[in-house]
Amino acid sequence: METNTPKRRDNKKSLRVKVISLGNAEVGKSCIIKRYCERRFVPKYLATIGIDYGVTKVQVRDREIKVNIFDMAGHPFFYEVRNEFYKDSQGVLLVYDVGLRESFDALDSWLGEMKQEMGSQANMESIVFIVCANKVDLTKRRVVDEGEGRLWAESRGFHYFETSAQSGEGINEMFQSFFSSITDMCENGGKRPVTEVSVGFTKEQADTIRRIRNSKDSWDMLGVKPGATREEVKKAYRKLAVLLHPDKCVAPGSEDALKAVVNARTSLLKNIK
Ligand code: GTP
Ligand code: MG
Repeated sequence: METNTPKRRDNKKSLRVKVISLGNAEVGKSCIIKRYCERRFVPKYLATIGIDYGVTKVQVRDREIKVNIFDMAGHPFFYEVRNEFYKDSQGVLLVYDVGLRESFDALDSWLGEMKQEMGSQANMESIVFIVCANKVDLTKRRVVDEGEGRLWAESRGFHYFETSAQSGEGINEMFQSFFSSITDMCENGGKRPVTEVSVGFTKEQADTIRRIRNSKDSWDMLGVKPGATREEVKKAYRKLAVLLHPDKCVAPGSEDALKAVVNARTSLLKNIK
């Protein structure tokens, strides 16, 4: 990582911030940071040992921002080392590999580890979170699509970016948005500005889409017990159709979820006397 020593004339306009990277081992955290700070990509995997630290300076509007980057090791073995570094972060890069579902599923436990380590200090509203769906260059092995990733991120008020440390896709845009949101937050008295969190859909809609995606059969998809009556199926369908209707729901993946619900209703009604 590049290291710069800042020399400031106008201290009022300069800011110091701390950001950390989180996510499973090998998802590309260090490579994303390297791509941004050093404009290069290293194909060989060099696991971060505990933590890597670097400083960079960026300009956001009329402010100079000194960014302290703590790049965490994703391997569980390093838990004892990284747990010291969660506190006092203004920004978190949450990274997963779009080709490895377990790395996406693990995002919740990374947030859990962070909350646990921050203890009573944990005020997630004072932290900007960016979710990086990384390695999008490897299109053939992709298993987590954009809708699913975006839904997870935006339903929590987090930003979502598709990135490739290998090609550079999305990296500069992601960091620009990251630093500008952190600056907005600092100028807003340390709270994430409300507009940023307003995503145009409810948590109930986001949870329902996720439940539909993960359902094991048509009964499960409609949220009725196997063997439910025609009336129960129709009632459950009506409720979901209202919740997910395109006029009411702009959540990513809502259209596909609604289509799946229509198909589930049709196939169940065909077989119920
Ligand atoms: P830990 O430090 O162990 O937590 O891993 P990490 O998340 O920092 O992963 P790292 O950045 O070291 O990258 C892991 C491997 O993935 C390396 O072999 C990288 O070259 C590769 N890699 C990272 N980003 C990309 C990407 O966007 N595309 C491709 N194709 N490979 C990538
Ligand atoms: Mg690393």
